[in-house]
Amino acid sequence: MSSEIVSASSLWVGSYRRRMKVSLERMYENALDWAHLPYLHNSAFSSIEVIEAGDWGWRADLGLSQRPEGGAPPYITLQLTLDRAHRRWVSSTLEGPGAGSEIWTHVFEFGSRDLEIQADFFIPGVAEANRASVGAVYAELYQGLYDEDEAMMLERQRALDGQSASKGGLDVSNPEDHALGTVQSLTSMLPFDFAYQGQHWRLIKDQEEWLVYTLTCPHLLGSFKTVTAESGTVTCPWHGYRFNLRSGECLSGADCRLPNPPKLIERNGWLYVQKNTVNV
Ligand code: FES
Ligand SMILES: [Fe+2]
Repeated sequence: MSSEIVSASSLWVGSYRRRMKVSLERMYENALDWAHLPYLHNSAFSSIEVIEAGDWGWRADLGLSQRPEGGAPPYITLQLTLDRAHRRWVSSTLEGPGAGSEIWTHVFEFGSRDLEIQADFFIPGVAEANRASVGAVYAELYQGLYDEDEAMMLERQRALDGQSASKGGLDVSNPEDHALGTVQSLTSMLPFDFAYQGQHWRLIKDQEEWLVYTLTCPHLLGSFKTVTAESGTVTCPWHGYRFNLRSGECLSGADCRLPNPPKLIERNGWLYVQKNTVNV
């Protein structure tokens, strides 16, 4: 699929520019990642049903979190078409409020992890006098979406970098059990996050049982740091996958699971991570 010239009836109402310390690979990955919209951007989108997706982009029915003025149906059919040759993608609203809108996003690369995007908003049916105010609404929306996207891309890049550093020569031969703290002090500090053998873990108590789980989602390395485990499960903020902390199973049906956590031992009022119980 290729991008067509923007519809003649649409008016350019404004642009949004942003420089980010992310790679083109992360940026394209983010553009193609339709599944994160109702989770990472839950203030803008409430649901998504994908119709078609591929290397070219995707088309989906998207629920909107806020019903637009006038009470139009709170969903749109959106298509994102990626044009790698021109380093851009076009987001076209095919149905629903704002149908006929096109948002053209171009990428300018300054370095391997330094780029700028410019999104141009072309919206049909906007009176010339309202152009600036409509443009400002879109720019504000994009600012919020990119605040969330940039944080996600940076976090994922850090996790990927950490993985390759671990593979490069981590010493996994921990000679002794690793003391986390006294049971009393740990109990007062829960949830307690710690690093062990190159990975980040969280200690919690669930139904009077100590549980340890990874803070890195096995799907695309989203971080669980900002979410609270509930009823023995954790839900990733990036795509909403839910995991059973005891079995590691993905309860959302995805083909991924939590890694086995290090084993805990309680000894003389202290809690330890048992040596060599993590596969890295
Ligand atoms: S990174 Fe996708 S669900 Fe966690
Ligand atoms: Fe996004």
